[in-house]
Amino acid sequence: MDTGEFRRLWDDLAAIGRADDGGYLRFSWSEADLACRDWFRAQAEDRGLRWETDRNGNRYAWWDPEPTTVPGEAPPDDRAVLTGSHFDSVPHGGAYDGPLGIVSAFLAVDRLRAEGAEPRRPIGIVAFTEEEGGRFGVPCLGSRLTTGALDPAAARGLTDPDGITLADAMRAAGADPDALGPDPERLDRLDAFVELHIEQGRGLDGEGAAVGVAGAVWPHGRWRVTVTGEADHAGTTRLADRRDPMLTFAFAVLAARKEARLAGGLATIGRVEAEPNATNAIAARVTAWLDARAPDDTVLEAILREFESKVQDRAARDGTQVSITPESETTLVEFDPALRDRIATLLGGAPVLPTGAGHDAGVLAAHVPTAMLFVRNPTGVSHAPGEAASDEDCAAGVEALAAVLRDLAC
Ligand code: GLV
Ligand code: MN
Ligand code: MN
Repeated sequence: MDTGEFRRLWDDLAAIGRADDGGYLRFSWSEADLACRDWFRAQAEDRGLRWETDRNGNRYAWWDPEPTTVPGEAPPDDRAVLTGSHFDSVPHGGAYDGPLGIVSAFLAVDRLRAEGAEPRRPIGIVAFTEEEGGRFGVPCLGSRLTTGALDPAAARGLTDPDGITLADAMRAAGADPDALGPDPERLDRLDAFVELHIEQGRGLDGEGAAVGVAGAVWPHGRWRVTVTGEADHAGTTRLADRRDPMLTFAFAVLAARKEARLAGGLATIGRVEAEPNATNAIAARVTAWLDARAPDDTVLEAILREFESKVQDRAARDGTQVSITPESETTLVEFDPALRDRIATLLGGAPVLPTGAGHDAGVLAAHVPTAMLFVRNPTGVSHAPGEAASDEDCAAGVEALAAVLRDLAC
């Protein structure tokens, strides 16, 4: 595929939600998200694809097979092959995480059409809502709601950092939050889901391959860590009299790192809010978010157990109170082995890689045969403005996705 073709469609989307630092602010149901949704609709309409939005705000474009007119001929299979990803970003995230899977999907359809291929079953392109949890805190919001992994009432009540609920944000964007909920019939109509994504590490670079296939998604989760102390004057309160939650928080950051290192996993505290957030006052409360991941569920549990116990000990010494509550948890996901092997072989023995990143594909995998394609990321940087892939590798990703769709659906 011509890299210019990739670049043209990529550039067409690139300005939406881009901040001055080159990172993206594409939070779900924001102006930028709505502009991305409009872009998706325009892409579908330009190609004559039927488009729709499901009850959870996930948007689809469909390339349907021609109905058969030959008497006695078997009707086309109506169970679809779905591909796509998400538009939303982490705050100041990179351009590729998510949108690459959607742009590549439209281009793969173009590629198949250009060679005269005809689908024998529907080929769908999806843009899932809020994969990153960048606004309402729960990752894979749209796919979790669709699979029933997230209670719709709980979802409606989720709040963003400004205190706006998901329900209000949806209403303001013209969507109906009362419609949120599981959609088993929609899942039953899927034969397979294949998500193309930029790699978020340097595995493919090490292998010297432009495209790879996912083997598994590490277990991972997010926990809210709330440390409560007592606000007081920074200049008059004796050190011995303080109940300073900032101390417990500082310990927690180091404990997360240490327990992850000892157990062989990963743990990060990348978000924190202090109240009242004054320079000359001891904080009353610090809220932080722990992100932890590990190669298997036992290691992840061990990190959490040790983290919690050490932070509680420290809180007792600081005179503070700590609560640690899960906001989302995902156990180990192993992608469908038959589909994984079929795709790896089809792509000439593409490398199979695990990933520590979460994906809607990981959520769908429990319900539909699911696979992922990764496109090489030479620096491995992701969730930051430096995230990038070469146009040549992105074009190779489109070719690979087209080959997969041809194999599964044409
Ligand atoms: C999503 O990209 C995540 O891994 O948090
Ligand atoms: Mn991401
Ligand atoms: Mn992603």
